[in-house]
Amino acid sequence: MNEVSHSRRRFLQIAGASALSAGLLASINDVRALVDEQASAAARLDFDQLASAYSLADNLSYLNHASIGTIPRLVQSAHGDYLRLCESNPWLYVWGGGWDAGVQAVRAACAQALGCDASHVALSHNTTETFSMLAQGLPMQAGDEVLFSNLNHDGASICWEQQSSRRGYTVRKFEIPLADIPGLSEDDVVALHADAIADNTRVLVFPHVDNMVGLRHPLHRLVQTARAKGVEFVFVDGAQTLGMLPLQVASSGVDVYACSAHKWLQAPKGLGVSYIHPRLIEIVQPMWMTWGQQRWQGSVRIFEDYGTRNFPELMAMADALQYQYQLGAGRKLDRYLHLRKQAMAMVDADSALAWRSPRSEQLGASLFAIGLRNGQAEATAQRLYQQHGVVVRPFATPGLNSLRVSPNVFNTTRELRRLMHLAVN
Ligand SMILES: Cc1ncc(COP(=O)(O)O)c(C=O)c1O
Repeated sequence: MNEVSHSRRRFLQIAGASALSAGLLASINDVRALVDEQASAAARLDFDQLASAYSLADNLSYLNHASIGTIPRLVQSAHGDYLRLCESNPWLYVWGGGWDAGVQAVRAACAQALGCDASHVALSHNTTETFSMLAQGLPMQAGDEVLFSNLNHDGASICWEQQSSRRGYTVRKFEIPLADIPGLSEDDVVALHADAIADNTRVLVFPHVDNMVGLRHPLHRLVQTARAKGVEFVFVDGAQTLGMLPLQVASSGVDVYACSAHKWLQAPKGLGVSYIHPRLIEIVQPMWMTWGQQRWQGSVRIFEDYGTRNFPELMAMADALQYQYQLGAGRKLDRYLHLRKQAMAMVDADSALAWRSPRSEQLGASLFAIGLRNGQAEATAQRLYQQHGVVVRPFATPGLNSLRVSPNVFNTTRELRRLMHLAVN
């Protein structure tokens, strides 16, 4: 036992900590019970009524959940309760072991949402962090290639680009022509990736759903294709999927599936989670160098231990997961696809707008790009926000000139209709 954990144990014996941590666990369970009750009440509401469960400003039409999510009030309140408990005796409530059962519950709920075993879940801060760890800690050799497309997000790209010049491997970006996106089929997406893979491609990275046009990449088929072509590591960016789509990541055969919990899961900001295949424990060097890594040797928890953790925030992630679970993964997906279909019909009916996202429902998500044939995307988004309280993200990228719209289940057809009208008037 190292010195830190020895002196902690001594203190806990002296302070009679086990009784106190049992009290903490009881308090966590009280908060959880209340969340359960409130979440099941919220799940009985029509999605059109569900905005009442959040604290967005009245004059706002928030259609930018892909940039950052908003937390339902019941999760905010649970978070506050955990914070108050923690602050009543911070030393004890960070190091006293009282959160252990709570952390286990978070891990189990994450595993359920990801579709994997709880022992393969690493709790992180966000997607960017996990990709930084991979780019720094994966042994690579001169001549090895990391491959991704133009749809890959900076958070899963820049780390490879920066490390490649230091460590001598190469990074190649291939193009998925933006103009072709609306007409793509699943076979096309697979073929584009297969054609881009070269003999020296050792790592393939792709977003499950990208952040510009919302192409839902066929996860299982892409992993199989990459393996068949000799790619050793497949790392997937799930920043836009956890909480939006039902997931089965373990059976896809992916090596790492990295997510942020502050978008569609509506957990407190600065929380993430990754599925990590256990074979990586022996291969990847963890980013954080802590005494905890000895403790977690042989487990994917070596990738999550960064020293003192914000437990109240982490506890609230289980409540966010519980709330989303109660809303129902299938029911949410139906709603997302319904809103998307309606938006596509509105765009098709307006000659000043252009649908820039996949038309195929199978390749679509609750994130789509609406091209402006006349106005400028950035100026239009600014006007929509300043004059009408509508929040969307502009993309001035050549070939897009689009407003990216990312509704949550509680956004309504009415809001979409208003957006389309205001965007061109
Ligand atoms: C597809 C995608 N990947 C990665 C990220 C980075 O997310 P984070 O800052 O939570 O790491 C984002 C953020 O918008 C994203 O959309």
